[in-house]
Order: sequence, then C-alpha cells, then structure tokens
Amino acid sequence: MPIATLKQVLGEAKKKKYAVGGFNVNNMEQIQAIMLAAQKTKSPVILQASKGALAYTNLVYIKHLVLAALEENSNLPIVMHLDHGDSLETVKKAIGLGFSSVMIDASNKSFRKNVELTKKVVKYAHGFGVSVEAELGTLGGIEEHVKGAVKLTDPKQAIDFVDKTGIDALAVAIGTSHGAYKFKKTPKLALELVKEIAKNVNIPLVMHGSSSIPLNLRQQINRYGGKMPNAKGVPISSIQKAIKYGISKVNVDSDSRMAITATIRKVFKKHPEKFDPREYLGPAREEMTKLIASKMRAFKTAGHAKDYRVVSLKETKKRYR
Ligand code: G3H
Ligand code: 13P
Ligand code: ZN
Repeated sequence: MPIATLKQVLGEAKKKKYAVGGFNVNNMEQIQAIMLAAQKTKSPVILQASKGALAYTNLVYIKHLVLAALEENSNLPIVMHLDHGDSLETVKKAIGLGFSSVMIDASNKSFRKNVELTKKVVKYAHGFGVSVEAELGTLGGIEEHVKGAVKLTDPKQAIDFVDKTGIDALAVAIGTSHGAYKFKKTPKLALELVKEIAKNVNIPLVMHGSSSIPLNLRQQINRYGGKMPNAKGVPISSIQKAIKYGISKVNVDSDSRMAITATIRKVFKKHPEKFDPREYLGPAREEMTKLIASKMRAFKTAGHAKDYRVVSLKETKKRYR
C-alpha cells in the first residue's frame, strides 16, 4: 500500500466483520510501537492524531514521522487520520500535511449545525480523496455517577445524518467515555443500539472511548509512585460484542498512555540512577507494542494486511509533498 483511506480500510473490515484500532499518536515511540505491533500481527493500521497532538508535535514533525512509518512498512496499509477535528481549519491543516482521513466532531452542536459543518468538511475532504468520520450523539457513561451529559445516538437521526452529510464512517455514542476514569464498576453499554444503527446505516461505525483501563497497569503505576484512582474501562468482551454487532473502528488512547507511564515509573523506581531516555523510553515502547498487538488480535485485525492491493511508495509520497 502503504497509505490507505479510512473508507478503503473500514470497507474491508465491515465486509469481513473485524475492526481496526484507531490508535492515537503524539511521538516517535508511539508510532513505532503501533507499527511494530502491526508488523508482528500483519494488520492494517490507523494512526490518529488529535488537534492537541498536532500542536504538541508542531505539525512538520508528525508529517515526517508518518512518512518514516510509511517508508519502513511498505507492506502494510496505513491510514493517517485526524482525530476529533473541531473545525474546517484544522481539517485543512491535516489534509495539507498529507493525512488520508479526517474526523470532524461537531457532536456538541445542534443536529442542524452538526450537519452543516460536517457537510462542508465532506465537500472539502472528498475533493482530495480524503475520507471523513463524523459523530452523532455525546459520549459519556450511562451510569449516574459518571459526570457529563450523555446522549446516546438516535438510530433514526443517524440515517438522516449519514444521508445529509455523505460521510464515510459514523462515530456512535453507546455509553463509553474518553479518558482513564470511565466507570466505577463494569459498565452497562448500549450494545444493542449498535445492532440497530448498523441495520439502518450502510457505512462503517466507530466506537470512541474504548480503552479497557487494565487493572495490572493501574496497579503498576500506583505501586511505583503514581496516583490513579480506581476505575474500570470497556471490557474486551464488550468490544468484541460491539464488533460482532457492526463496529469497524475502535479508538484507543488511554491504555497506551498507561502502558508507557507504568513502564517508565517502574524503571525510575527500580533504577533511580538511570537518566538516559533510551533506557526508559525503549522499555515503554516495548510494553506499548505488546499492548497494541494484543488489541489487534482481540479486534480480529491480525492477518488482514494481505487483503489490500500494494501501491508504490512513490505514489504514497506524492501525497506528502
Ligand atoms: O479522544 C481524545 C484522544 O484521547 C486524544 O486526546 O486531545 O489529549 O490528544 P488529546
Ligand atoms: P480512550 O480515552 O478510551 O482511550 O479513547 C480514545 C478515543 O476515543 C480517541 O478518539
Ligand atoms: Zn474519541
């Protein structure tokens, strides 16, 4: 391949009933961890950067890190995706960098305004052959102790939204929320809603806030000086059920952050004399690779890289001029 659009990759995933992780990246080690995991498991990949990630890496760095990933992994289909774009301006920035996919998240606006902005983004992005993901509903928990207004996706409105906007993938709100403090106990997610939406909407569906917040990582962080309160994430079994019901993209960020932090804290506590960043960033990258590889297997992405037609790296690089 290696650059692919979200539409291509999720189209395959939907057809074959697996999901592709949308893994957030902010630096070289995270990109390398995801690519190593994809090589190990022979998986298609979605690297995604938020507006905050673009600001952190100062745009040009992310562009060249992605180029390095493409060059190093010419046997794998790789989507470069903007996560939670908030305006046409951010979308233009990402497309200018060579991203093959963007998310416009106007889910906090009224239905009319969400449609209006999403349509504008679709018109602009499709002009460059770039895919668009948009969101309908509001993330949050469906249990009363979880703060923040929750609005599960309305399946009838979803048909209208997809119809009016022409998007390529729809992010749905089914009771998950972003971050490491999602639920006090095992969550009740609206998984049946996925089934209902998938029956009516013909494009791939996306699940945000899908970190599992592994207990062993939280315990490791706290054992070595951290202070992460007790919380549960989304069990892998619920994600697998959601995939069976029609989810094709599963967004994960917090678990990667936890794997990195748990490893670095352990190295610092056990070896306070160490100060070479390679001696803690290296092991952190290794732990993140293991975590991502296990998700690629759990989401059934593993082994599917071979389903894609390979195009030349030269073609890919044209996008990144
Ligand atoms: O959904 C949000 C992602 O976890 C990205 O988070 O905005 O802190 O980069 P961020
Ligand atoms: P988590 O915070 O559960 O990892 O969710 C990440 C996400 O949805 C990115 O868009
Ligand atoms: Zn998200």
